[in-house]
Amino acid sequence: MPGEKSLELGKRLAGVECRNTTFLSGDWPIFWERAEGVNVWDADGNRFLDMTSGFGVAGEGYGFTGEALRRQSATLMHAMGDVHPARVKVELCEALSEMTFEKWEGRKGKCLFGNSGFEAVEAALKTAVVATGRSGILSFEGGYHGLGYGALLGAGIGWFREPFDGQLARVTERLYFPKNSEDMEVFRKQLAQVDGSGIGAVLVEPIQGRGGIHVPPEGFLKALRAWCNEVGAVLVFDEIYTGFWRSGKMFACEWEGVVPDLICLGKALSGGFPISVCVGKAEVMDRWPVSGGEALHTSTFLGNPMGCAMGMEALRRYRQAEIENMVTEAGERLGQALDPLLELGFVTEIRGRGLMLGIQADSGERVIDVVKRMLRAGVIALPDGPSGDVLALTPPFSVTADEIDFSVESVKAALLGV
Ligand SMILES: Cc1ncc(COP(=O)(O)O)c(C=O)c1O
Repeated sequence: MPGEKSLELGKRLAGVECRNTTFLSGDWPIFWERAEGVNVWDADGNRFLDMTSGFGVAGEGYGFTGEALRRQSATLMHAMGDVHPARVKVELCEALSEMTFEKWEGRKGKCLFGNSGFEAVEAALKTAVVATGRSGILSFEGGYHGLGYGALLGAGIGWFREPFDGQLARVTERLYFPKNSEDMEVFRKQLAQVDGSGIGAVLVEPIQGRGGIHVPPEGFLKALRAWCNEVGAVLVFDEIYTGFWRSGKMFACEWEGVVPDLICLGKALSGGFPISVCVGKAEVMDRWPVSGGEALHTSTFLGNPMGCAMGMEALRRYRQAEIENMVTEAGERLGQALDPLLELGFVTEIRGRGLMLGIQADSGERVIDVVKRMLRAGVIALPDGPSGDVLALTPPFSVTADEIDFSVESVKAALLGV
């Protein structure tokens, strides 16, 4: 592993893709051929258990919105998103409003679509400027919001941002992201020192994902909500990773019962089509001027009908009562099965929520070695954290007890180097 066909594809790719994009070596990557449920098959016919949900996209599993895509693609693949839109865009806006601000506060949410997750973040940052007239951003160390230029303004993992700093406006203040209750003191002191008068947006992940799976202590989101109310900034929750049950609640902000002004969603929204959205309180979104025929923020594929149809099917599934139990039960089983790894010595902490768990190891080298060994054993996992020293496990919600046990055995064997 990788087999001959994957190795051959790697050689071909090396000649034709930007060399910074896909990591290629003698033992990486496998090239995917098909996927279903929690399984992926590669070009050589090997089957894998995907404990990443393909970056958190395959919420309930691969293919759960496939029928909706087939149906939609048979009739309408593309519409004119901000000119003559598809009917299904309206339906998805209504469903998103119902599941967010209507549920939380009994008032409408309004949507601004994008393709990739980072575009939803950029839509939120623009909305904050429009709504407040201020360009300042408050974000957090370790934060990840995608890699477009707008989203990079909020980036808290320096090496993603630094090569491009010269083209980025100096508008961001970055605070420490509290990881436990003792950290709250540091965070509160830092927040008290921020001059809020220039800050338009507070951009935060309710649980940091790419930054190493950090669940902030109770009180953190409430403190941000109170601060935004005080200074008149817009509170943006980036739930592109955590949204749609990943953390064991439909949205991670529901753990603390804090309602943002804007919420960014992507990844599991469609189960596999590039579509994202910034949903905002109507009163904030209505600060945008009414379109007079030229939208200030749009794109060719905005509200693409295939993405919207898949989104509608995904939301239908996410609203089924059994999903919460699936995630809670699988998350508990995974957490319990992982616990004994703490005794091995190389693992210092296991943390996270729902089906978003991180195993903190003693080094990034160890995690890379583990990830490669797991791949050879048929399990896909990824490193997380600014220095890659966290092994992240974020399987599809349909993962079974046997599959959880199999994956944990493979983590253990990999840690022990066997
Ligand atoms: C919290 C968060 N925000 C934004 C993004 C960017 O999404 P995309 O890669 O689809 O642009 C990610 C991607 O991992 C993410 O985890």
